[in-house]
Amino acid sequence: MTAGFPQARPRRLRRTPAMRRLVAQADVRPADLVQPLFVKEGISEPQPVSSMPGVLQHTRESLRKAAAAAVDAGAGGLILFGIPAEKDARGSAADSPSGIVQLALADLAADLGTETVLMADLCLDEYTDHGHCGVLTPAWDVDNDATLERYASIALAQARAGAHVVAPSGMMDGQVAAIRGALDASGFADVAICAYAAKYASAFYGPFRDAAECAPQFGDRASYQQDHGSPDEALREVLLDVGEGADMIMVKPALAYLDIISLVARSVRLPVAAYQVSGEYAMVEAAAASGWLDRDRVIMESLTAIKRAGAGIILTYWATEVAGRLR
Ligand code: PBG
Repeated sequence: MTAGFPQARPRRLRRTPAMRRLVAQADVRPADLVQPLFVKEGISEPQPVSSMPGVLQHTRESLRKAAAAAVDAGAGGLILFGIPAEKDARGSAADSPSGIVQLALADLAADLGTETVLMADLCLDEYTDHGHCGVLTPAWDVDNDATLERYASIALAQARAGAHVVAPSGMMDGQVAAIRGALDASGFADVAICAYAAKYASAFYGPFRDAAECAPQFGDRASYQQDHGSPDEALREVLLDVGEGADMIMVKPALAYLDIISLVARSVRLPVAAYQVSGEYAMVEAAAASGWLDRDRVIMESLTAIKRAGAGIILTYWATEVAGRLR
Protein backbone atom coordinates (compact mmCIF):
# COMPACT_ATOMS: atom_id res chain seq x y z
CA MET A 1 0.00 0.00 0.00
CA THR A 2 1.34 3.37 -1.00
CA ALA A 3 0.58 6.30 1.28
CA GLY A 4 -1.25 9.16 -0.37
CA PHE A 5 -3.05 7.06 -3.01
CA PRO A 6 -6.67 6.12 -2.65
CA GLN A 7 -6.75 2.40 -2.14
CA ALA A 8 -9.56 0.45 -3.81
CA ARG A 9 -11.30 -1.34 -0.96
CA PRO A 10 -14.45 -3.13 -2.14
CA ARG A 11 -14.52 -4.86 1.23
CA ARG A 12 -15.73 -1.60 2.80
CA LEU A 13 -19.17 -2.37 1.38
CA ARG A 14 -19.22 -5.89 2.80
CA ARG A 15 -18.45 -5.13 6.43
CA THR A 16 -21.88 -5.63 7.97
CA PRO A 17 -25.09 -7.38 7.02
CA ALA A 18 -26.77 -3.97 6.94
CA MET A 19 -24.20 -2.61 4.49
CA ARG A 20 -24.47 -5.69 2.28
CA ARG A 21 -28.23 -5.41 2.28
CA LEU A 22 -28.06 -1.72 1.38
CA VAL A 23 -25.90 -2.27 -1.67
CA ALA A 24 -27.43 -5.55 -2.90
CA GLN A 25 -28.74 -5.34 -6.46
CA ALA A 26 -30.82 -8.49 -6.72
CA ASP A 27 -33.10 -9.85 -4.10
CA VAL A 28 -35.98 -12.27 -3.98
CA ARG A 29 -39.41 -11.02 -2.93
CA PRO A 30 -42.23 -13.33 -1.84
CA ALA A 31 -44.46 -11.87 -4.56
CA ASP A 32 -41.98 -12.99 -7.25
CA LEU A 33 -42.54 -16.64 -6.41
CA VAL A 34 -45.09 -18.97 -7.99
CA GLN A 35 -45.92 -22.29 -6.32
CA PRO A 36 -46.51 -25.26 -8.66
CA LEU A 37 -49.16 -27.62 -7.28
CA PHE A 38 -50.29 -31.07 -8.44
CA VAL A 39 -53.88 -32.26 -8.10
CA LYS A 40 -54.81 -35.85 -8.82
CA GLU A 41 -58.20 -37.29 -9.58
CA GLY A 42 -59.50 -40.30 -7.67
CA ILE A 43 -57.29 -40.31 -4.55
CA SER A 44 -58.60 -39.87 -1.03
CA GLU A 45 -55.30 -38.86 0.62
CA PRO A 46 -52.44 -36.72 -0.70
CA GLN A 47 -49.67 -38.88 -2.17
CA PRO A 48 -45.95 -38.17 -1.74
CA VAL A 49 -43.76 -37.96 -4.86
CA SER A 50 -40.73 -40.12 -4.13
CA SER A 51 -38.29 -38.24 -6.37
CA MET A 52 -39.43 -34.87 -4.95
CA PRO A 53 -39.36 -35.18 -1.15
CA GLY A 54 -41.81 -32.67 0.34
CA VAL A 55 -43.95 -32.41 -2.82
CA LEU A 56 -47.42 -33.97 -2.89
CA GLN A 57 -50.01 -35.00 -5.40
CA HIS A 58 -53.03 -33.33 -3.84
CA THR A 59 -56.65 -34.22 -3.47
CA ARG A 60 -59.06 -31.37 -4.21
CA GLU A 61 -59.36 -30.75 -0.47
CA SER A 62 -55.65 -30.83 0.35
CA LEU A 63 -54.99 -28.62 -2.68
CA ARG A 64 -57.25 -25.94 -1.25
CA LYS A 65 -55.19 -25.95 1.95
CA ALA A 66 -51.87 -25.87 0.11
CA ALA A 67 -53.09 -22.99 -2.06
CA ALA A 68 -54.28 -21.04 0.96
CA ALA A 69 -50.92 -21.64 2.65
CA ALA A 70 -49.05 -20.28 -0.38
CA VAL A 71 -51.22 -17.17 -0.44
CA ASP A 72 -50.87 -16.67 3.33
CA ALA A 73 -47.10 -16.91 3.00
CA GLY A 74 -47.20 -14.10 0.44
CA ALA A 75 -46.31 -16.08 -2.70
CA GLY A 76 -47.20 -14.23 -5.89
CA GLY A 77 -49.20 -16.98 -7.54
CA LEU A 78 -49.95 -20.65 -8.09
CA ILE A 79 -49.66 -22.88 -11.12
CA LEU A 80 -51.77 -26.02 -11.31
CA PHE A 81 -51.02 -29.36 -12.92
CA GLY A 82 -53.68 -32.06 -13.11
CA ILE A 83 -53.37 -35.83 -13.15
CA PRO A 84 -56.53 -37.41 -14.52
CA ALA A 85 -57.85 -40.87 -13.63
CA GLU A 86 -58.29 -41.81 -17.29
CA LYS A 87 -55.93 -41.06 -20.15
CA ASP A 88 -56.57 -41.46 -23.86
CA ALA A 89 -54.90 -40.64 -27.17
CA ARG A 90 -56.34 -37.11 -27.45
CA GLY A 91 -56.11 -36.20 -23.76
CA SER A 92 -59.86 -35.77 -23.37
CA ALA A 93 -59.68 -34.98 -19.66
CA ALA A 94 -57.60 -31.87 -20.35
CA ASP A 95 -60.53 -29.80 -21.64
CA SER A 96 -63.46 -31.61 -20.07
CA PRO A 97 -65.46 -29.23 -17.84
CA SER A 98 -65.37 -31.99 -15.22
CA GLY A 99 -61.62 -32.59 -15.70
CA ILE A 100 -59.61 -32.45 -12.49
CA VAL A 101 -57.83 -29.17 -13.23
CA GLN A 102 -61.07 -27.44 -14.14
CA LEU A 103 -62.68 -28.60 -10.88
CA ALA A 104 -59.62 -27.56 -8.89
CA LEU A 105 -59.42 -24.16 -10.60
CA ALA A 106 -63.06 -23.53 -9.74
CA ASP A 107 -62.41 -24.49 -6.10
CA LEU A 108 -59.46 -22.11 -5.86
CA ALA A 109 -61.23 -19.33 -7.74
CA ALA A 110 -64.07 -19.60 -5.22
CA ASP A 111 -61.72 -19.73 -2.21
CA LEU A 112 -59.20 -17.11 -3.23
CA GLY A 113 -60.88 -14.82 -5.77
CA THR A 114 -58.38 -12.24 -6.93
CA GLU A 115 -56.18 -12.54 -3.83
CA THR A 116 -53.66 -14.48 -5.87
CA VAL A 117 -52.83 -15.19 -9.52
CA LEU A 118 -54.22 -18.54 -10.59
CA MET A 119 -52.20 -20.04 -13.39
CA ALA A 120 -52.87 -23.29 -15.23
CA ASP A 121 -50.25 -25.29 -17.09
CA LEU A 122 -51.70 -25.86 -20.54
CA CYS A 123 -50.43 -29.06 -22.11
CA LEU A 124 -51.52 -32.57 -23.05
CA ASP A 125 -48.79 -34.80 -21.68
CA GLU A 126 -50.49 -35.44 -18.32
CA TYR A 127 -53.66 -36.42 -20.18
CA THR A 128 -52.52 -38.55 -23.11
CA ASP A 129 -52.00 -42.30 -22.78
CA HIS A 130 -48.83 -42.00 -24.88
CA GLY A 131 -47.45 -39.18 -22.69
CA HIS A 132 -46.63 -36.75 -25.51
CA CYS A 133 -47.50 -33.07 -25.37
CA GLY A 134 -49.71 -33.26 -28.46
CA VAL A 135 -51.91 -35.57 -30.47
CA LEU A 136 -50.22 -37.98 -32.85
CA THR A 137 -50.34 -38.51 -36.60
CA PRO A 138 -50.98 -42.07 -37.86
CA ALA A 139 -47.18 -42.35 -38.13
CA TRP A 140 -46.86 -41.48 -34.39
CA ASP A 141 -45.41 -38.06 -34.93
CA VAL A 142 -46.66 -35.18 -32.81
CA ASP A 143 -49.16 -33.37 -35.07
CA ASN A 144 -48.53 -29.66 -34.59
CA ASP A 145 -51.70 -28.17 -36.05
CA ALA A 146 -54.12 -30.77 -34.74
CA THR A 147 -52.57 -30.14 -31.32
CA LEU A 148 -53.24 -26.39 -31.62
CA GLU A 149 -56.97 -27.11 -31.83
CA ARG A 150 -56.73 -29.13 -28.63
CA TYR A 151 -54.76 -26.35 -26.89
CA ALA A 152 -57.35 -23.74 -27.90
CA SER A 153 -60.07 -25.87 -26.40
CA ILE A 154 -58.08 -26.48 -23.17
CA ALA A 155 -57.48 -22.74 -22.83
CA LEU A 156 -61.22 -22.11 -22.97
CA ALA A 157 -61.94 -24.84 -20.42
CA GLN A 158 -59.33 -23.39 -18.04
CA ALA A 159 -60.55 -19.83 -18.55
CA ARG A 160 -64.17 -20.86 -17.91
CA ALA A 161 -63.05 -22.60 -14.73
CA GLY A 162 -61.41 -19.43 -13.43
CA ALA A 163 -57.75 -19.37 -14.54
CA HIS A 164 -56.29 -15.87 -14.63
CA VAL A 165 -53.30 -17.01 -16.66
CA VAL A 166 -52.88 -19.99 -18.98
CA ALA A 167 -49.35 -21.25 -19.48
CA PRO A 168 -48.87 -23.28 -22.65
CA SER A 169 -45.89 -25.59 -22.15
CA GLY A 170 -46.09 -27.92 -25.16
CA MET A 171 -43.76 -26.02 -27.52
CA MET A 172 -45.99 -26.37 -30.60
CA ASP A 173 -45.43 -23.75 -33.30
CA GLY A 174 -48.20 -21.16 -33.25
CA GLN A 175 -49.59 -22.17 -29.86
CA VAL A 176 -49.77 -18.66 -28.42
CA ALA A 177 -51.64 -17.29 -31.45
CA ALA A 178 -54.08 -20.21 -31.43
CA ILE A 179 -54.80 -19.77 -27.73
CA ARG A 180 -55.04 -15.96 -27.90
CA GLY A 181 -57.47 -16.22 -30.81
CA ALA A 182 -59.68 -18.72 -29.00
CA LEU A 183 -59.72 -16.73 -25.75
CA ASP A 184 -60.51 -13.45 -27.50
CA ALA A 185 -63.27 -14.97 -29.59
CA SER A 186 -65.01 -16.36 -26.52
CA GLY A 187 -65.02 -13.35 -24.23
CA PHE A 188 -61.79 -14.11 -22.37
CA ALA A 189 -59.69 -11.21 -23.61
CA ASP A 190 -58.64 -10.57 -20.00
CA VAL A 191 -57.07 -13.98 -19.48
CA ALA A 192 -53.29 -13.64 -19.82
CA ILE A 193 -50.87 -16.02 -21.51
CA CYS A 194 -47.57 -16.92 -19.89
CA ALA A 195 -45.73 -18.62 -22.73
CA TYR A 196 -43.19 -21.29 -21.95
CA ALA A 197 -41.27 -19.71 -24.83
CA ALA A 198 -37.80 -21.10 -24.38
CA LYS A 199 -38.30 -24.59 -23.05
CA TYR A 200 -35.44 -27.00 -23.43
CA ALA A 201 -35.64 -30.77 -23.84
CA SER A 202 -34.12 -31.30 -20.43
CA ALA A 203 -33.17 -34.23 -18.27
CA PHE A 204 -33.88 -31.93 -15.31
CA TYR A 205 -37.61 -32.67 -15.78
CA GLY A 206 -37.12 -36.30 -14.68
CA PRO A 207 -38.75 -36.07 -11.23
CA PHE A 208 -41.70 -34.05 -12.60
CA ARG A 209 -42.62 -36.99 -14.77
CA ASP A 210 -43.19 -39.00 -11.57
CA ALA A 211 -45.15 -36.16 -10.01
CA ALA A 212 -47.37 -35.59 -13.04
CA GLU A 213 -47.26 -39.19 -14.31
CA CYS A 214 -46.45 -37.99 -17.80
CA ALA A 215 -43.30 -39.76 -19.03
CA PRO A 216 -43.51 -40.30 -22.81
CA GLN A 217 -44.32 -43.94 -23.52
CA PHE A 218 -42.09 -43.94 -26.60
CA GLY A 219 -39.43 -41.61 -27.97
CA ASP A 220 -38.67 -38.28 -26.33
CA ARG A 221 -39.65 -34.62 -26.61
CA ALA A 222 -36.65 -33.53 -28.67
CA SER A 223 -38.71 -32.81 -31.81
CA TYR A 224 -40.70 -30.10 -30.03
CA GLN A 225 -38.63 -28.94 -27.05
CA GLN A 226 -35.40 -27.08 -27.75
CA ASP A 227 -31.90 -28.41 -28.00
CA HIS A 228 -29.70 -27.16 -25.19
CA GLY A 229 -26.89 -25.98 -27.45
CA SER A 230 -28.85 -23.21 -29.18
CA PRO A 231 -29.28 -19.78 -27.57
CA ASP A 232 -30.35 -18.10 -30.83
CA GLU A 233 -33.22 -20.52 -31.12
CA ALA A 234 -34.43 -19.40 -27.70
CA LEU A 235 -34.58 -15.81 -28.87
CA ARG A 236 -36.36 -16.83 -32.06
CA GLU A 237 -38.98 -18.72 -30.05
CA VAL A 238 -39.39 -15.82 -27.64
CA LEU A 239 -39.84 -13.23 -30.39
CA LEU A 240 -42.43 -15.43 -32.11
CA ASP A 241 -44.39 -15.76 -28.87
CA VAL A 242 -44.21 -12.01 -28.26
CA GLY A 243 -45.55 -11.42 -31.77
CA GLU A 244 -48.34 -13.92 -31.21
CA GLY A 245 -49.52 -12.05 -28.13
CA ALA A 246 -47.79 -13.57 -25.11
CA ASP A 247 -48.14 -11.46 -21.95
CA MET A 248 -45.27 -13.09 -20.07
CA ILE A 249 -42.33 -15.12 -21.29
CA MET A 250 -40.95 -18.14 -19.52
CA VAL A 251 -37.54 -19.78 -19.69
CA LYS A 252 -37.16 -23.33 -18.44
CA PRO A 253 -35.19 -24.88 -16.72
CA ALA A 254 -33.58 -22.06 -14.73
CA LEU A 255 -30.21 -22.75 -13.12
CA ALA A 256 -28.52 -24.40 -16.12
CA TYR A 257 -29.99 -21.70 -18.41
CA LEU A 258 -29.10 -18.44 -16.64
CA ASP A 259 -27.50 -17.17 -19.85
CA ILE A 260 -30.78 -17.70 -21.68
CA ILE A 261 -32.74 -15.90 -18.95
CA SER A 262 -30.30 -13.01 -19.21
CA LEU A 263 -30.50 -12.91 -23.01
CA VAL A 264 -34.30 -12.96 -22.97
CA ALA A 265 -34.59 -10.36 -20.21
CA ARG A 266 -32.38 -7.99 -22.20
CA SER A 267 -34.31 -8.63 -25.41
CA VAL A 268 -37.96 -8.21 -24.48
CA ARG A 269 -39.95 -5.75 -22.45
CA LEU A 270 -42.41 -8.24 -20.98
CA PRO A 271 -42.28 -9.90 -17.58
CA VAL A 272 -39.80 -12.79 -17.74
CA ALA A 273 -40.45 -15.90 -15.68
CA ALA A 274 -38.05 -18.75 -15.02
CA TYR A 275 -39.01 -22.25 -13.91
CA GLN A 276 -36.75 -23.81 -11.31
CA VAL A 277 -37.72 -27.32 -12.30
CA SER A 278 -38.15 -30.62 -10.52
CA GLY A 279 -34.57 -31.81 -11.10
CA GLU A 280 -33.16 -28.60 -9.64
CA TYR A 281 -35.33 -29.17 -6.58
CA ALA A 282 -34.47 -32.86 -6.29
CA MET A 283 -30.71 -32.30 -6.51
CA VAL A 284 -30.70 -29.85 -3.63
CA GLU A 285 -33.06 -31.90 -1.48
CA ALA A 286 -31.03 -35.07 -2.04
CA ALA A 287 -27.70 -33.44 -1.30
CA ALA A 288 -29.12 -31.71 1.76
CA ALA A 289 -30.63 -34.97 3.04
CA SER A 290 -27.14 -36.49 2.86
CA GLY A 291 -25.74 -33.55 4.81
CA TRP A 292 -23.67 -32.43 1.82
CA LEU A 293 -25.18 -28.98 1.27
CA ASP A 294 -26.67 -26.29 3.48
CA ARG A 295 -30.19 -26.57 2.06
CA ASP A 296 -31.61 -23.18 3.00
CA ARG A 297 -28.59 -21.23 1.86
CA VAL A 298 -28.37 -23.10 -1.44
CA ILE A 299 -32.05 -22.42 -2.09
CA MET A 300 -31.65 -18.68 -1.50
CA GLU A 301 -28.44 -18.51 -3.50
CA SER A 302 -30.01 -20.21 -6.50
CA LEU A 303 -33.17 -18.09 -6.37
CA THR A 304 -31.07 -14.94 -6.14
CA ALA A 305 -29.01 -16.09 -9.12
CA ILE A 306 -32.17 -16.54 -11.17
CA LYS A 307 -33.36 -13.05 -10.21
CA ARG A 308 -29.93 -11.60 -10.93
CA ALA A 309 -29.96 -13.17 -14.39
CA GLY A 310 -33.10 -11.16 -15.10
CA ALA A 311 -36.19 -13.20 -14.22
CA GLY A 312 -38.80 -11.17 -12.38
CA ILE A 313 -40.97 -14.21 -11.68
CA ILE A 314 -39.72 -17.59 -10.45
CA LEU A 315 -41.75 -20.80 -10.44
CA THR A 316 -40.29 -22.90 -7.66
CA TYR A 317 -41.40 -25.85 -5.55
CA TRP A 318 -40.04 -23.91 -2.56
CA ALA A 319 -42.28 -20.87 -3.18
CA THR A 320 -44.47 -21.19 -0.09
CA GLU A 321 -41.57 -22.04 2.19
CA VAL A 322 -39.30 -19.26 0.94
CA ALA A 323 -42.07 -16.66 0.81
CA GLY A 324 -42.90 -17.49 4.42
CA ARG A 325 -39.26 -17.23 5.43
CA LEU A 326 -38.79 -13.86 3.73
CA ARG A 327 -41.84 -12.17 5.24
C1 PBG B 1 -45.26 -30.27 -19.60
C2 PBG B 1 -44.41 -29.79 -18.49
C3 PBG B 1 -43.27 -30.40 -17.97
C4 PBG B 1 -42.83 -29.60 -16.93
C5 PBG B 1 -43.72 -28.54 -16.81
N1 PBG B 1 -44.67 -28.67 -17.80
C6 PBG B 1 -42.63 -31.69 -18.32
C7 PBG B 1 -42.02 -31.93 -19.62
O1 PBG B 1 -41.95 -31.07 -20.49
O2 PBG B 1 -41.59 -33.07 -19.80
C8 PBG B 1 -41.62 -29.87 -16.09
C9 PBG B 1 -41.58 -29.17 -14.77
C10 PBG B 1 -40.54 -29.69 -13.84
O3 PBG B 1 -39.66 -30.49 -14.18
O4 PBG B 1 -40.58 -29.26 -12.68
N2 PBG B 1 -46.63 -30.27 -19.26
